[in-house]
Amino acid sequence: MARMPIIAGNWKMNKTPDEAVAFVRELTPMISHSDDVERVVAPTFLALAAVAAELRGSPVKIAAQDAHWESSGAFTSQVSVSMLAPLVDYVIIGHSECRAFLNETDENVNRKAQAVLAAGLKPIIAVGESLEQNEAGETVPFVRSQVRTALAGLAPKDMNNLVIAYEPIWAIGTGRSASGEIADDIIKTAVRDTVAELYGVDAAAAVRIQYGGSVKPENMEEFMAQPNIDGALVGGASLVADDFAALVEIASRVKGRRSASA
Ligand code: PGA
Repeated sequence: MARMPIIAGNWKMNKTPDEAVAFVRELTPMISHSDDVERVVAPTFLALAAVAAELRGSPVKIAAQDAHWESSGAFTSQVSVSMLAPLVDYVIIGHSECRAFLNETDENVNRKAQAVLAAGLKPIIAVGESLEQNEAGETVPFVRSQVRTALAGLAPKDMNNLVIAYEPIWAIGTGRSASGEIADDIIKTAVRDTVAELYGVDAAAAVRIQYGGSVKPENMEEFMAQPNIDGALVGGASLVADDFAALVEIASRVKGRRSASA
């Protein structure tokens, strides 16, 4: 079964609402024809409403960069999925920066995944090992355990409605990326096979898994050419319209309708 490639631009703490709107105005005409690739932008919370208004009727989808699992209450600074639901299609959860700066735990990632799905939205669940874990040869067991906890208690059908992003922490924003082959191997053994053990081979064949970490137009083809990589979660390069458009174009050429395998 063909999995639709998905390119998501994680803007992190960049772009004011005005800048975010100006950016999508520039970007959308460049990528709107590539309807064999799911295209997603993730502005800050503050820019979501303005970007959602600008993108109404557009094929470009929107992600929030986080969400709380409770629907309301005394959670200063937090945003619930019911607040996000009118504005976004996706919610990124478990990003390594949230794990590092906001003490995000695997258990909370799981609570958030459940809340996001219950609201009819789709989580993009980020996992990935540190440089120390990588060098100690702990990548596969560590990522497997992140995936197991993040997906605990979900149903096989939920695997159609979520995305997992494998992002080695040492590759994020560093210019260093895993090779396509190594990333594919980890994605297969630590992520897709774990989904198969938990929810069966059909669910594992359906779940979309992105690579993330210093993805740019120059290395995109190497990632997209891998059998288990269904797209990319992109930080830096997603802030530049030409680069974002090039990533979508490469995904479309390598994995979209024009590719030999489609
Ligand atoms: P990067 O960020 O592309 O700038 O490495 C990726 C991410 O954090 O999702």
